[in-house]
Amino acid sequence: MKTLVIYDSFFGNTEQIARAIGRAFGPEDDAAIVRVGDVKPEQLAGLSLLIVGSPTRAFRPSQATTKLLKSIAREGLGGVNVAAFDTRVTEEEIAKGPWILRKMVRIFGYAAKPIADSLVKKGGELVIAPEGFFVTGNEGPLKEGELERAEEWAKKIVAGDLRVQRVAHPVPDNT
Ligand SMILES: Cc1cc2nc3c(=O)[nH]c(=O)nc-3n(C[C@H](O)[C@H](O)[C@H](O)COP(=O)(O)O)c2cc1C
Repeated sequence: MKTLVIYDSFFGNTEQIARAIGRAFGPEDDAAIVRVGDVKPEQLAGLSLLIVGSPTRAFRPSQATTKLLKSIAREGLGGVNVAAFDTRVTEEEIAKGPWILRKMVRIFGYAAKPIADSLVKKGGELVIAPEGFFVTGNEGPLKEGELERAEEWAKKIVAGDLRVQRVAHPVPDNT
């Protein structure tokens, strides 16, 4: 199972989440965690699972994340399982802000969903709902428990992915 976790991060929070996600994979899973600006085209070839995460910036993924997603060819993710996550401020923080911010969050949302939509548009098979992980304040740190929650989220993907592989490659019945 060749896995790639791509992340962007300005203050280090999304990087920490990406690394927590990486901990859900065993040595046999061949998982790499790479910052979006360092991804080489060949790293996107032959993947069984691609996870992309970004900080939410103005309701969207970071520019570098959007650029990377746009650079993937049409159907470039055919046969690849995909998942998406973001980091974002807490609902309590947004509730403290002006009404216009609350309204814009309701309308435009966060980064994970557009990332997932883009991965699916490129032919990927979405294996889990897009997920958001919370930072306290604008620059973090992460809300308590989010690293553990990220690892649990990824474990669900691993369990699901292995199930997909078992169905795809059934063990021959020699009885
Ligand atoms: C310019 C800017 C825009 C932001 N826009 C949003 C936003 O629209 N929604 C949100 O929930 N958080 C927003 N945030 C908070 C970021 O999501 C937060 O800084 C990020 O999760 C931290 O992750 P990082 O340390 O990996 O950069 C914004 C932060 C900055 C600096």
